[in-house]
Amino acid sequence: MQFTHIDANNDEQFDPWFGVLQRSEQSRDGEPAQGWHPDEWRARSIDETAPKVFHLYSYGPSRERPVAVGALEVTRDDNLAFIDGNLFVDPAERRRGYGSALLKELEASARELGRPTLVIFVIESSREIGTGPNRAFALHHGYRVAEENVRRDLEWPRPDDELNDLWDTWSPFATDYEIISWTNGTPEEFVEGRAHLSAIMPVETPHVDIDVEAEHWDAARVRLHEATTNQMGRDLLVAAARHRASGELVGYSELTVSREQPQTAYQWDTLVVRSHRGHRLGGLLKVTTMRLLEAGRYPTTKITTFNSMLNGPMIAVNEALGARIAGAMVAWRKDL
Ligand SMILES: CC(C)(COP(=O)(O)OP(=O)(O)OC[C@H]1O[C@@H](n2cnc3c(N)ncnc32)[C@H](O)[C@@H]1OP(=O)(O)O)[C@@H](O)C(=O)NCCC(=O)NCCS
Repeated sequence: MQFTHIDANNDEQFDPWFGVLQRSEQSRDGEPAQGWHPDEWRARSIDETAPKVFHLYSYGPSRERPVAVGALEVTRDDNLAFIDGNLFVDPAERRRGYGSALLKELEASARELGRPTLVIFVIESSREIGTGPNRAFALHHGYRVAEENVRRDLEWPRPDDELNDLWDTWSPFATDYEIISWTNGTPEEFVEGRAHLSAIMPVETPHVDIDVEAEHWDAARVRLHEATTNQMGRDLLVAAARHRASGELVGYSELTVSREQPQTAYQWDTLVVRSHRGHRLGGLLKVTTMRLLEAGRYPTTKITTFNSMLNGPMIAVNEALGARIAGAMVAWRKDL
């Protein structure tokens, strides 16, 4: 058996890698996969100089015929104490020790990259919340749960007037703030503010057992994020809250939708900085990104979002918007 770091630009290596991932997602969800598309993996796996780049790995008799695949997300400067990863075994090849063998290789690669802790993220469908094969497998290999997230889906479009009613309910709490929005490129005047919010995002959100630090973001990294998202074939629908008195950006929310497969829109970051919480800004930001989705006439049928189970306020906003539980995402941690 061979363990290989594959070249995402080489179709002979990448296509079988993606095939294993796709079959794995399909067997989990019971329907064709809705996860990252090939271009989305490729766009994030080719630039070794990027602040974050995926290393993709195949395990099997040859790299053209993998039975298991994985990825490690290598950060250049951020959060060097751990590394995030994924691992999938072809459904037809499970319980033959391949998952264990690949995990061992991923752990060795993480060590070689100088990362003392490996954090494996796993998505569970609504049918397997808390019971996916990862639960027994990860415990068997000495991992512990670092974080439990719940996935919620919001049917789209919303009933007439629902967004207006929510806006009218929440906006009286936020008179000190202006909500602005844009699609794709951040207006120049907000780029620095946006960079600062992305930098502090990891330390402003609840984490159970992962010691996250702020990330390194500047205007250039915001532009790179926008360019990479565009290369992934996605639009970014962004809302931000500006504190009127100080002029500072104090929150933002990013919804993203694939131009090729717009059925599922994904909620990415939403953040309101601690000192400005309690003004319903989280809900107002989300309503505003949904207005962009409406205006863009995307044929979207659902919006998917993941939240830490500890994030009560964000979950309350999502429930108020009408989102309902549709799965889970668990982060398993091992100190290597
Ligand atoms: C979890 C996963 C990676 C396991 O891969 P695998 O190749 O079947 O795992 P292995 O054969 O190496 O299993 C090793 C041990 O883990 C445990 N295990 C694995 N799958 C299990 C299952 N479905 N039920 C109960 N125990 C399981 C068993 O103890 C097993 O040893 P055994 O077969 O001798 O009893 C695979 O099911 C998968 O790809 N799932 C979807 C993606 C995922 O969950 N990835 C993250 C894993 S942390």
